[in-house]
Amino acid sequence: MPETSPVIDGLLMIHKIISRGINISIRKCDDYIAGKSAPANEAKGFTLYVSTLKSVTHAHHLSEDEVAFPYFKEFIEAPYINLSQDHQTISNVLVRMEQALPGISSGDFVKLREVLGDFEKLWVPHIKIEEEHFIAEKMKAGTTMKDQVGLAQRLARHGSKNAGPGPLAVPFFFYNLEGGDREAFMRPFPFIVKKVLVPVLWKGQWKPMTPFLMKQ
Ligand SMILES: [Fe+2]
Ligand SMILES: [Fe+2]
Repeated sequence: MPETSPVIDGLLMIHKIISRGINISIRKCDDYIAGKSAPANEAKGFTLYVSTLKSVTHAHHLSEDEVAFPYFKEFIEAPYINLSQDHQTISNVLVRMEQALPGISSGDFVKLREVLGDFEKLWVPHIKIEEEHFIAEKMKAGTTMKDQVGLAQRLARHGSKNAGPGPLAVPFFFYNLEGGDREAFMRPFPFIVKKVLVPVLWKGQWKPMTPFLMKQ
């Protein structure tokens, strides 16, 4: 049976969420630029979606720099300096992405599309290096399951502080995943978040993002 690790599973799922966020944003920009869909109805939702993508990426990188990497360093060899430099480079791209957001409501997607392309070019090789180095077998060899569960909880708390408003970030996490991934990701969340806040009380806030999310 392959080794599993709550910490590594969490990192892989966040990578999937952000990767899908980048892909969908690029596809939508291309559609809007080609005039294939009507951006007017989707401008608000697309602005929320891209700005949430920015916040969750920023939060993920802070969690790696401040919590995960200092822990991993004790027993996993990896190019930590390069990875943190990538975070800095990507953070500059995220600033440009934020600056391109007003273009959405005025129908100018060219700048945003360019920034998303730059983001993707940095993101794909970055997570490849992380996913090659941070693997369940190495976690298991270097730490106990109890410590891993504690670290996973610390990462979740740290991430939620920086991921932007919960009513946008939490559905962004849940609904950029599907099937078993979504189920596994949602498992540690309290019942009230899964059954009341996200689907009912927060729905009005995240509903405009629906065209960009997977089926709920
Ligand atoms: Fe990273
Ligand atoms: Fe990462």
